[in-house]
Amino acid sequence: MSFDLVLLGGTGDLAWRKLLPALFQAFRHGSLPADGRIVGVAREALDDAAYRAWVAQRLGGVEGEKRPSPDEFARFSALLHYVRADLSNPADYAALAARLRQREAQAVVLYLATAPALFARVAEQLGAAGLATPRTRIVLEKPLGHDLASNRAINATVLRHFAEHQVFRIDHYLGKPSVQNLLALRFGNALFEPLWRRETIANIQITMAETLGVEKRGSFYDGTGALRDMVQNHALQLLCAIGMEPPANAGADAIRDEKLKVLRSLRPWTPDTLARDVVRGQYGAGQINGERVAGYRDESGVDPASRTETFVALRTEINNWRWAGVPFYLRTGKRLAAREAFIVVNFRPTPHAIFRTPADGANRLVIHLQPRDGLDLHLFAAAQAPRGPAAQHPLPLQPAQSTSAPLSPVSLNMDFDQRFGTERVGAYERLLLDVLAGRLNLFVRSDEQEAAWAWVEPILHAWQHAEDGPRHYAAGTWGPSAASALVARDAQCWTEEC
Ligand code: BG6
Repeated sequence: MSFDLVLLGGTGDLAWRKLLPALFQAFRHGSLPADGRIVGVAREALDDAAYRAWVAQRLGGVEGEKRPSPDEFARFSALLHYVRADLSNPADYAALAARLRQREAQAVVLYLATAPALFARVAEQLGAAGLATPRTRIVLEKPLGHDLASNRAINATVLRHFAEHQVFRIDHYLGKPSVQNLLALRFGNALFEPLWRRETIANIQITMAETLGVEKRGSFYDGTGALRDMVQNHALQLLCAIGMEPPANAGADAIRDEKLKVLRSLRPWTPDTLARDVVRGQYGAGQINGERVAGYRDESGVDPASRTETFVALRTEINNWRWAGVPFYLRTGKRLAAREAFIVVNFRPTPHAIFRTPADGANRLVIHLQPRDGLDLHLFAAAQAPRGPAAQHPLPLQPAQSTSAPLSPVSLNMDFDQRFGTERVGAYERLLLDVLAGRLNLFVRSDEQEAAWAWVEPILHAWQHAEDGPRHYAAGTWGPSAASALVARDAQCWTEEC
């Protein structure tokens, strides 16, 4: 298959950090169709040779084995081309269209790696320049808008020129092998399905913790915050994967239909639940891995009086027959104690206890998403009684209800990195290859995205009108104490506290 992959924003942060390294890995693994062009589009005055040199500098800085050898780079760089264009200038789109028309690639991918504020304008211009043809796919990075109305406006503009099946909305969490494993665990095994419901599950906790701060994105982040940056997309996608009904098949629409039902079944917010079930925090100075780090308001690009949240914890429910009444807790934050993403499924205790189990004695399944990819199933077992001298006298008969020795916690551990290797296809590599193949399973449909925005919007409104701002937490901790209180109210605890 021949393809043209056009990176609009070809010298930007996303191209530099994620897309070009991922494309090189796909090339190295032989997964990129042979007859392809990668066309960087940006304002800088570069030509093909200068763009290749720029990419060489980037890939030369990649760690260890992922760095290309000179010979590999020479072969990869033959794919690289450059078109100088100012995306705010309609005339430049005509030049881009002319360059792309030099050959009729079977697939033309237009990747908007630009500032999100430009999405609607760029999509409009691409359409006007005749670049929206049946061979074209358009790729949009999150965030798509900053609220429901702006999200709808972007989707409406894009869908005026492109059909829904041509639009690939990226949520890079869906490209992670561990997130695909989550679907495999649920829908490739019959074992868990009968247990996956309110009768057996007490609650589910989703944690996405980062140790990084806002890095060089201070001004972007300050206008965004953790709710828009992580909850509206990544956290809700994980919630869908864990909570959705089995889809009719593995096709994109069957999966997306089920995710949409989850999003539409999330318990609507009321003034009471908004006040009680949502906690926002902002990091102050602290220690990460033994090093002193600055507080959020001292980060470059951040307003010194900022009320932007860098942490969110919330409790919700899915109002359907499977889940009614089961709390789902989500939390995410920057500058937390560890970089870890995991989901904890807490089962209900046995209905009648004949053994002594530890006080918090119930089974628990921990699904590790990163940095470890694996599962831990926590169970209880009868530990062997220690050997000792025989009793001198016959033991008295035990009354029937007598309790035995306490059970011990044990766990079954599965490490997918060890089993499948850590060199599995990375999220961006996987997603880019899926775009080229036209596979939509791992991309977000417009109605899903709108349902997610509709659900977070009342939180945004409540915060906008609240007198108090986010609660303080010190960098290197697990967030404000109110997040612990949120689960403690239901007699629960976050894993690191239990
Ligand atoms: C991005 C957010 O979508 O996800 C970042 O914009 C965040 O703020 C990142 O750091 C986290 O992704 P990962 O793959 O490192 O967990």
